[in-house]
Amino acid sequence: MKFRSIGIVGYGKYVPEKVLTNADLEKMVETNDEWIVSRTGIRERHIAAPEQATSDLAYEAAVRALKTAGLAAEDVELIIVATVTPDTTFPSTACILQEKLGAKKAAAFDLSAACSGFVYSMATANGFLQTGMYNNALIIGADTLSRITDYTDRNTCVLFGDGAGAVVLGEVPEGRGFLSFDLGAEGAGGPLLKLEGGGSRLPASEETVKGGKHFIYMNGREVFKFAVRVMGTATEEVLRKAGKSKEDIDLFVPHQANIRIIHSAMQRLELPEEKCVINVDKYANTSAASIPLALVEAAEEGRMKEGDTVLLVGFGGGLTWGASVLVW
Ligand code: UT7
Repeated sequence: MKFRSIGIVGYGKYVPEKVLTNADLEKMVETNDEWIVSRTGIRERHIAAPEQATSDLAYEAAVRALKTAGLAAEDVELIIVATVTPDTTFPSTACILQEKLGAKKAAAFDLSAACSGFVYSMATANGFLQTGMYNNALIIGADTLSRITDYTDRNTCVLFGDGAGAVVLGEVPEGRGFLSFDLGAEGAGGPLLKLEGGGSRLPASEETVKGGKHFIYMNGREVFKFAVRVMGTATEEVLRKAGKSKEDIDLFVPHQANIRIIHSAMQRLELPEEKCVINVDKYANTSAASIPLALVEAAEEGRMKEGDTVLLVGFGGGLTWGASVLVW
């Protein structure tokens, strides 16, 4: 069976208005701009307004993506929202978004793979579209990490921000679009990065609230080591599957968690700065929104031309990783 070529035919992004700077954080916890910039590369992050939930951020990015794709909401066939901060446990954020957009005929579900969620979602939709089950898909990576961040914990509160990035996938000419995906998980590392409370294992109670179990817990040093390792191995694997080599990469779009992790990947790939998208300084780590925010920003700045080879790679809670090679 011959599969159709599927690629990105529309894109959009959104970050909330409010900016939280390193100077602001200096007033909240024992930290300083010098530490944050030298250890992470982050200078500021955007924070959702109290009335904004993940579906609101996703909506703004989705409307922009549909506009650049020239696709009407009522013609969308599939919506996947990658998020670990859904509006509610259920209904899914994708169903809430389907209603907001008026995308009446779309199937809709959320996908949970933390910071790798956007790449996982594109791979999932690619499978549906290649076989002809659907003709288009709206994929959104959106997270409101500020709602699960403990702003008294300096180990984590400097690292995260809120945002959303969206793409529309559809059929593209042969030779363009997605060439390969590499998805993976290492469940044994799950305890290194987690939110324990509120699920069926540890339902919400006075104790879980008092114990801070509704906030992100992270063993930063161990996640750092995992990240450096899989950014290398996933990149090599996804290039191999695409039949490409590191010299073929025109643009490298890594998960924006820490500038030092990005630099280690660039060194391994021997990539110059101009071939790498870096916006962790402005948005911090926005989880599932991170890769699409970087990809869409690069597209809006005209950094990709038709036929360019683009490599996306991310890692996150699960632990998980996801990478893709595509021809723009
Ligand atoms: O999306 C996936 C999720 N996560 C990640 O990608 C995160 C991966 N990990 C990291 O990015 C880094 O491990 C961090 C940025 C979280 C930490 O950097 P590090 O170089 O690994 O620092 P560290 O954990 O080894 O801590 C060094 C010191 C500690 O002090 P002591 O114990 O050496 O006295 C921390 O208490 O820095 C201290 N520290 C801070 N100091 C000032 C930790 N956070 C802060 C802070 N301001 N905000």
